Amino acid sequence: MIVTHLNLSEYRNYAVADVTFAPGANLFVGRNGQGKTNLVEALGYLSTLGSHRVSSDQALIRAGADAAVIRARLQHNGRDLLAEVQINRSGANRAQVNRGQIKPRELPRYFSSVLFAPEDLGIVRGDPSARRRFIDQLLVLHTPRLAGVMGDYERTLKQRNSLLKSARSSGLKANQLTTLEIWDDRLVAFGSEIIDERVRLVHALSQPIRDAYAAVVGDDHGPSLTPVLSIDGVDAEEDSDSVAGAPVATDLSTADRFRTALAARRRSEIERGLTLVGPHRDDILFELNSLPVKGYASHGESWSFALALKLASAELLRRDSNLGDPVLILDDVFAELDAHRRARLAAAVSSFEQVLITAAVLDDVPDSLAAHTVHIEAGRILAAPEDIVVDRDGVEIRG
Ligand SMILES: Nc1ncnc2c1ncn2[C@@H]1O[C@H](COP(=O)(O)OP(=O)(O)OP(=O)(O)O)[C@@H](O)[C@H]1O
Ligand SMILES: [Mg+2]
Repeated sequence: MIVTHLNLSEYRNYAVADVTFAPGANLFVGRNGQGKTNLVEALGYLSTLGSHRVSSDQALIRAGADAAVIRARLQHNGRDLLAEVQINRSGANRAQVNRGQIKPRELPRYFSSVLFAPEDLGIVRGDPSARRRFIDQLLVLHTPRLAGVMGDYERTLKQRNSLLKSARSSGLKANQLTTLEIWDDRLVAFGSEIIDERVRLVHALSQPIRDAYAAVVGDDHGPSLTPVLSIDGVDAEEDSDSVAGAPVATDLSTADRFRTALAARRRSEIERGLTLVGPHRDDILFELNSLPVKGYASHGESWSFALALKLASAELLRRDSNLGDPVLILDDVFAELDAHRRARLAAAVSSFEQVLITAAVLDDVPDSLAAHTVHIEAGRILAAPEDIVVDRDGVEIRG
């Protein structure tokens, strides 16, 4: 799919913005701090309901304004679609598709994008929560109905935690035990589905990430992904030594392992007033050449791994999603690469229907990706592609 038009209002440093996009590569150039990332972040938000830079929506609304609006015209299989989200400073956000109201969390059904930015190094080097966010975001784009299951799981977890907290102060009473069992059933039902879907997706990524890593780096460092599951007695949120995980027979179903693990940790759960087993405590182990990326890989290797992870995600969505190719967004990627890898990356992304690229320095981006260039300065779009005039030396003159 492609974006043909983006309209922003009161988003970050944009009072208003209107940008037209071309199929294929679109390059956004401007000095630091002018609004390049803001522009592509807005598209990422419209597709995933999150920003890769902040966890709260507040920073997305222009300072002094009450609401930001992101509106994009999308095209898929020759059909046009208008998707829109309003981010409110107070009160719930609102979303529309073709002017009809939808729930914001349904937006990923209509718009699929994969964004890579320097912040994604955090997926590889950061806490388990960053990897869970990564896989869940991909999961929702891949299988949109799972957004509902994740919401159900979150609500169940909250309820169960508050029950455990009250049992901690007074000891578990008979009526609380009955209630706990009901929450256990729900936790296991929603949680097992999330675990199974995540594991399936992690396995589905294994070949695409090998291909993507080799395509960008030019060597095969054997990148691999392995699910780390709390239902199997490993707790990614704590030092592994401190966990007395009961050994679990892995030929049992996910739900059975989940129940066994819950029973084994019930005492600590009540002591701590916290649910200690479930997808919210899981992780994914990333490895290169059979060594963990986190703690072992070099900066360049970690960075390439994160990039390959995003390219592999895009490849997987292209293969499985009924929205076709996701819009691929590369924020500030080319400055990090040498000329050789720039050319390799340009080749690797050339087959996508649309690729959006930001760069502070035009020369960092291979010519093959610079046919449609838009200049950005202080939250203003200076030139649409058709306004760009190029002089005899190939230097752009503003139209
Ligand atoms: N809510 C907001 N209201 C007003 N301005 C904001 C808001 N959030 C961010 N900004 C401003 O937006 C500006 C541009 O940010 P952006 O990250 O898009 O820059 P950039 O062009 O990608 O720069 P770089 O090349 O350094 O990555 C920053 O100066 C920042 O202060
Ligand atoms: Mg930027």
